[in-house]
Amino acid sequence: MPTPFSQPDLALNSFAPRLLNWFETDGRHDLPWQQHQTDTPNPYIVWLSEVMLQQTQVKTVLPYFARFMTSFPTVQDLAAADWDTIAEHWAGMGYYARARNLHKGAKQLVEIINETGDYPQTLAGWEAISGVGPSTAGAIMAMGLHKYGVICDGNVKRVLTRWAGIDGDITKSATTKELWSLATRLTPKENSGLFAQAMMDMGATLCIRRSPACTLCPLKDDCIAHAQRRETDYPVKAKKQPKPSKFSNALVIENESGEILWLQRPDNGIWGGLWSLPLQFVEKVSGEIGKANKTVNSVLLAVASNEKVYETEFTTAEQVIFEWLAEHNLQATSVSHTLLDDAPIKHSLTHFHWYLQPQKLIIDNLQIRTLNDKLAAANINFKWLSQQKARDSLGLPRAMVKIIEI
Ligand code: ADE
Repeated sequence: MPTPFSQPDLALNSFAPRLLNWFETDGRHDLPWQQHQTDTPNPYIVWLSEVMLQQTQVKTVLPYFARFMTSFPTVQDLAAADWDTIAEHWAGMGYYARARNLHKGAKQLVEIINETGDYPQTLAGWEAISGVGPSTAGAIMAMGLHKYGVICDGNVKRVLTRWAGIDGDITKSATTKELWSLATRLTPKENSGLFAQAMMDMGATLCIRRSPACTLCPLKDDCIAHAQRRETDYPVKAKKQPKPSKFSNALVIENESGEILWLQRPDNGIWGGLWSLPLQFVEKVSGEIGKANKTVNSVLLAVASNEKVYETEFTTAEQVIFEWLAEHNLQATSVSHTLLDDAPIKHSLTHFHWYLQPQKLIIDNLQIRTLNDKLAAANINFKWLSQQKARDSLGLPRAMVKIIEI
C-alpha cells in the first residue's frame, strides 16, 4: 500500500536516525531544562520551560527560567507563591496569560500529586492542565516523563512542511491534521523525548524561518522544499489581518515625595492581575455620539479638532480616579505634545498595537488623602511607590517601564 505521505517509506523510516545522528554531534545539549541526559527526568522542569518557550525564544527564556527555578524549585513552591511574586518574575516576557496559566496549572498539579502521589502520567492528564495544549503535553510526556509523546509545535510544522512539501495553509484544521499524522509517523516509539529535543533544535537552529542552513541539514537530500529551492515559501500561512491600533492615556499621578499611584488591574482583560498606571483607553469608533450601547464603564466622546469619534473605557478603579479628577477640577498634562494617534510609547500585544500617551499630574497631600479614601472605599488594590520600587517589586509590564523611563 502506498504511504499516505508525500515521502516514500525509505525516507520516512530514515528520518529519525538521520535527525538523531545530527543532534548527537551538532545539537544543543546544555540547555538547562533538557532531560535527555538523565534517567530521572523532572516533569516540573519540562512543563515550566515548555510554557515559557511557547511564544518566547530560548535566549530570552534562559535568565527567566533560572530565576523561576531559584525562587520556585518545585511545583509546590510555585503553587504556594502569591500572584504578585510570579508576575514580578514573569515581567517583560509578555503574553501574561501564560503566567496566570502557570500559577493555575501549578495548583492543579499539586492537587493531582496530593491525590495520586505523582504527576499526571497520560497525555490527556497533561492536556487537562491550564495552558497545556497537545504539543506541550506531548513534549512533557516524551521529555519530562520519558514516555511516548509526539510534538507538533510551530518549529516542527516548519520543518515538516518543508521536508514533505506540504503547501496547505497551516492555520487550517486539515493541514494541522496532516502534520500531526506525519509527526506521529516519524516519531520513534523508543526515545521519543530525544527525538522531540532533536526536532526542536532542528527547527530553532537550522530550519529557521529566514535563511535556513540547508547545507548543514541531515534531511536536505530528500527535502522537497529544498529541491524546489523554495524553502522560505513554507509553511504556507493565511495572511493575518493587520492588527488594529488602540490608544490610551496613561496617568502618572505623583505625590509630593515623588511616589506614583499604581493600580492592580482586574483579573480579566489586558494585563489581568498586573500592576499598571491608571489608563484611559481611547478607541476610535465609527458611529455617532450618544449611540454607544457598550458597558457601563464606557463613554463616547468627540474630539473637536478632527471630528473623530472616540470611545473610552475604564476599569472601576480608573473610573473612580477620573471622577475624582473631575470633582477636583484637576487635569493631567501630556508629557509629549504629539496627538494620541502618534503617542510616544508604542507597544504591540497579540491582537493590537497600543499607543500610550503618558500624562502627568502632581497632587498635594490633602488631595491624596481624598483620592486614597475613594479608592479604599471602592475596594481597589493600589499602591504609591517610587519608580524604582515599582520596578523592583511589582513585575510591571514592559510598556509601563517604558512610560516611567520617559
Ligand atoms: N522550543 C520549545 N521547546 C523547546 C526546548 N525544549 N528547547 C529548545 N527550544 C524549544
